[in-house]
Amino acid sequence: MNPDLTHLHPYPFEKLSQLKMGCTPPANLPHIALSIGEPKHPTPGFITESVIEHLHGLAIYPTTKGRIELRKTIADWLQQRFMLNGYVDPEKHVLPVNGTREALFAFAQAVIDRSQNPLVIMPNPFYQIYEGAAILAGAEPYFINCTADNHFIPDFDTVSEEIWQRCQLIYLCSPGNPTGAVIDEQSLLKLIELAHKYDFIIASDECYSEIYFDEDKPPVGLLQAACNAGYTDFSRCVVFHSLSKRSNAPGLRSGFVAGDALVLKDFLRYRTYHGCAMPPATQAASISAWQDEDHVAFNRQYYLEKFNAVLTILAPVMNVEMPQAGFYLWAETPISDTAFARQLFEQQNVTVLPGSYLARNTDSGNPGQNRIRMALVASLEECIEAAYRIRDLIENSLVT
Ligand SMILES: Cc1ncc(COP(=O)(O)O)c(C=O)c1O
Repeated sequence: MNPDLTHLHPYPFEKLSQLKMGCTPPANLPHIALSIGEPKHPTPGFITESVIEHLHGLAIYPTTKGRIELRKTIADWLQQRFMLNGYVDPEKHVLPVNGTREALFAFAQAVIDRSQNPLVIMPNPFYQIYEGAAILAGAEPYFINCTADNHFIPDFDTVSEEIWQRCQLIYLCSPGNPTGAVIDEQSLLKLIELAHKYDFIIASDECYSEIYFDEDKPPVGLLQAACNAGYTDFSRCVVFHSLSKRSNAPGLRSGFVAGDALVLKDFLRYRTYHGCAMPPATQAASISAWQDEDHVAFNRQYYLEKFNAVLTILAPVMNVEMPQAGFYLWAETPISDTAFARQLFEQQNVTVLPGSYLARNTDSGNPGQNRIRMALVASLEECIEAAYRIRDLIENSLVT
């Protein structure tokens, strides 16, 4: 077996199951899960219908590059959303992927040169796939802690010259999971310049970019920052987008990567061998999904309603703030995050994810410690009920 497999960390949900073991939550309270980042709003009917309508296409092999109609739709969406002034060429700059997870993983396998003592930089806390991808690509993960002190944005000034020299790839997550922080355009530009100086690739995971709360201020993206600064070939920049969160369609497995044409050319070569073409019905449904914004705006409104309701209940008893974007609350806990999560489950039958499970220990500590991640994916009523139960625990029965 590949010995690197033994270096993979247990997934946070494995640790969570262990933590909850032996607890007996009250039988009269139905379970509420705020732990999993799986969208629960209904998938728009027209997306489902489109899948069904196109199932007759099963007799053909799809190509890895995907249909031009899909790539053109994606290019139009990108240009419109990030004001890219016609610089996105659907032939060169766009590839469909089966959700961002597989693409984020596969990307490291394609771009890392393992003969050069490689290093992959990522935020801490982070989406676990970045680390696993780096390890299995033969690279050393390097973490930049994202804490309240730096507004949960990676501070690139803390990275030494020696680390930049070994860096071949950096993962960004903006809007961030779990923090909801959006990396500002100036920081993105600084990183783009570092990427040119030290010759590394930026992989920006933007799968939460469409869940924001001010209709006039959508989060900025990496390609937008590159384009505005004159890097209109998007060199060294690749973004990852998905229909999972934007369109409540995680089961569709549809997303795309876009950016640097030379990088994508090699990534396509890798993917051809990997064998991960998007099924024809998924391609067809994805075209209709990327062409519609009404359902996305409606989705945002519903999340906003939930954030407002939950924060009104929780803000008086814990340090928790409205995120800039995304659907998570990254709240501070009055006791350790693991003890809090266990007591919450045991006493109130609500599951949240301890922050320390989403981060690694570093010389300056574990930036997930004393925080929990709450995904506001359930219905408004369930989110409100969960918030009241959390408040009840803190006010009445938390064992400190
Ligand atoms: C930060 C982040 N990136 C990527 C993904 C993967 O999403 P998908 O593969 O459904 O596009 C997730 C899913 O939870 C995520 O939280």
